[in-house]
Amino acid sequence: MKNVAVVGSQWGDEGKGKIVDWLSSEADVVVRFQGGHNAGHTLVIDGVTYKLRLLPSGIVRKNKISIIGNGVVVDPWALLDEIKEIKSKGVEISEENLILSESANLILPFHKEMDEIREDAAGKAKIGTTRRGIGPAYEDKVGRRSIRVMDLISEKNLDHRLETVLMHHNAIRKGLGKELFEKNKLKKELLEIAPQILKFSKPVWKKIDEFKNEGKKILFEGAQGILLDVDHGTYPFVTSSNTVASSAATGSGCGPNTIGYVLGITKAYTTRVGEGPFPTELKNETGEHLGKIGKEFGTVTSRKRRCGWFDGVLVRQTIKVSGINGIALTKLDVLDELDEIKMCVAYELDGKKVDYLPAAVDDQLKVKPIYKSFKGWKSSTKGIKNFEKLPENAKIYIKELEKFIETKVSSISTSPERNDTILIEDPFKI
Ligand code: IMP
Repeated sequence: MKNVAVVGSQWGDEGKGKIVDWLSSEADVVVRFQGGHNAGHTLVIDGVTYKLRLLPSGIVRKNKISIIGNGVVVDPWALLDEIKEIKSKGVEISEENLILSESANLILPFHKEMDEIREDAAGKAKIGTTRRGIGPAYEDKVGRRSIRVMDLISEKNLDHRLETVLMHHNAIRKGLGKELFEKNKLKKELLEIAPQILKFSKPVWKKIDEFKNEGKKILFEGAQGILLDVDHGTYPFVTSSNTVASSAATGSGCGPNTIGYVLGITKAYTTRVGEGPFPTELKNETGEHLGKIGKEFGTVTSRKRRCGWFDGVLVRQTIKVSGINGIALTKLDVLDELDEIKMCVAYELDGKKVDYLPAAVDDQLKVKPIYKSFKGWKSSTKGIKNFEKLPENAKIYIKELEKFIETKVSSISTSPERNDTILIEDPFKI
């Protein structure tokens, strides 16, 4: 079985872009299957930085096919802007190497506005969303009133679909004392860009079936992280899609048996953007240090990420809910200068020891981490490509982490550069 799914095992920003880019050298096809332009994958290739939001990471490589699956919510203007931006860096993007699912749901300006209206009105209860309209767009999808890529084909159909969705949105807007959203202007703007979007549109499930029959290797690229999954994450402080690996099948139209290996990208410490529980958060100098050395600012919103120790309890849990076969440990070098490194191995909740994150948000906010302490290695691991060359204390930390999460560390990333990776097990060769 040749196909691999890559997912984030924490709250996103684990460094998926680099690993996906690196794995895509072996893949023929790279597929995005959930999320939207709330994602931000940064690739550094030969000193050039590419910031991808909607486009699959395979786009920067020659002779690869990139697919945006039906499970992705697509802001058509954001997609066109991103294509333009990436093209301006010398990357070729055409119907030959980019496929957009005809059933992908669109994020429209009233979704973004609704995201903002709600976040602004929520006060302390705000989620801290990326304000891109992701949640409202997914709501319209399951509410069966969404506008999909294929709806751009006919003006009559588009008019009818807009009428339906705006009836819903305008009722809410009216209730909130906001201006009603005007249909005709939006329809005109959508029809103007329709040909530029529709040229990429194809039945993705069929293309994937063909690629499978041709023996092509497929890489499924997850966005966000499992702790942001709408079912398995720290609800309600989550995104509005399923970020677990099984979503790769529904979000692109292939069966779960298409995926042979699930790789969980895992940062050697923990970060989170936005609100919500974070048991190992460090609101002190060490947290600041991790943020500074790890350059922990959001790719999409530039927000400062909250930083904390590695939470083994959480990662062990996300590995189980997502069926992760091995992890790619990233940003190990960020820990290089620390005297002491801690790993959360259990929680205390109301005087009792617990070995998983409870589902109730109040409990999630209350749990206190129980740590295991490790001696720092105090030397540079940057750019090391061989496990044996790592400092002894770094090896001890990794081995203990591996034992605790009950899953193999299949690679270790030691800098943002594509080749600075210690490969232990190649997911495509298993
Ligand atoms: P939304 O996806 O914009 O609705 O935001 C919901 C939550 O997911 C917020 O806490 C965001 O900060 C978080 N989030 C969304 N996308 C990403 C991502 O790509 N990386 C990290 N956090 C994200």
